[in-house]
Amino acid sequence: EKGGYEHFMIKEIHEQPKAIKDTLTSRISEDGQRVVLNEVSLTKEQMKEIDRIHIIACGTSWHAGIVGKAAIEQLTRVPVDVEIASEYRYSDPIITDKTLVIVISQSGETADTLAAMREAKRLGCARVLAITNVVGSTIAREADDVIITWAGPEISVASTKAYSTQLIALYLFACYFAQERETEGAKEVPEILNALKNLPAQAEKVLQTAPAIEAFARAYADKEDAFFIGRGLDYAVSLEGALKLKEISYIHAEAYAAGELKHGTLALIIEGVPVIALATQDHLYEKMISNIVEVKARGAYVLALAWQGDQEIGKTVDQVITIPRTLPFLAPVLAVIPLQLLAYYASVARGNDVDKPRNLAKSVTVE
Ligand code: M6R
Repeated sequence: EKGGYEHFMIKEIHEQPKAIKDTLTSRISEDGQRVVLNEVSLTKEQMKEIDRIHIIACGTSWHAGIVGKAAIEQLTRVPVDVEIASEYRYSDPIITDKTLVIVISQSGETADTLAAMREAKRLGCARVLAITNVVGSTIAREADDVIITWAGPEISVASTKAYSTQLIALYLFACYFAQERETEGAKEVPEILNALKNLPAQAEKVLQTAPAIEAFARAYADKEDAFFIGRGLDYAVSLEGALKLKEISYIHAEAYAAGELKHGTLALIIEGVPVIALATQDHLYEKMISNIVEVKARGAYVLALAWQGDQEIGKTVDQVITIPRTLPFLAPVLAVIPLQLLAYYASVARGNDVDKPRNLAKSVTVE
């Protein structure tokens, strides 16, 4: 059942190229110009009416939502709030009949997400769109519209292919929303769709970083702390990298918006602390390099994640892992893979139960 892999998690990490491809299949028009989302019944008119979006989710799905916000706002300029379901529900959210609610849940059964969705409906939101991996799940049944992520069953408690396919679903929706609203950003859609189609093959290439990541994970497996830093979308991916590491390796990890380090956390950067620095956002690259210099100066061991062909970053950091070039906008889909591998190999090196980390359940059906 593990298809020759030692754990479900590593199997599922390797399934990502296919999962991404399956989630894209039949959702891009043949001429590559438009998104086709026949399953979404929202009409053009209804989409034009929407003036605010709330994305609600937990854990890894919430991290996907943060990327979704950036994608939707960039292409449509409609403001998006990304909320943790267990907070949203009790926050007296401001919802009108022009608010579109997007709930993201791999299982479609997460109690907090379900309760938040019901609360949003009760308060009279325009519509609920669910992004889920389980056809027929409670969330899928109660939502007005559903975009299924075709990741296939995810067994490992640590979510991997669900995250990358949630990102794909969110990019597709952002493009669709832009195209139907005929926004300025809609002009970018064909280029984005073209880049999306290349992601499965590129993800396959990123999987080849496994041996280097494994060596790094083994060397640092006895550390108690690790930091993930990035700016913009790299920060969103950092959050996911840190969660994954904590969840299965039990190494304390923090994700930091790199510019925020000097407002407190830099105090924790001492000799030998591993820092994973993401540098895929071109417009923030120089700023990111300065932040890396700050942690290097305190003795951190820096592993950078950068684009293939980056000739600069190696001069500043200790080790570089590269990913093939795509639009910086889509970088999270590729950048998350080495971070998933890092968590996996650190967990293995520490002798943990990778697929069933302590205290956690795959589907959290209690609040
Ligand atoms: O099934 P869901 O996407 O609603 O689950 C949400 C979280 O419980 C889940 O993503 C959790 O954070 C993962 N175990 C993280 O790897």
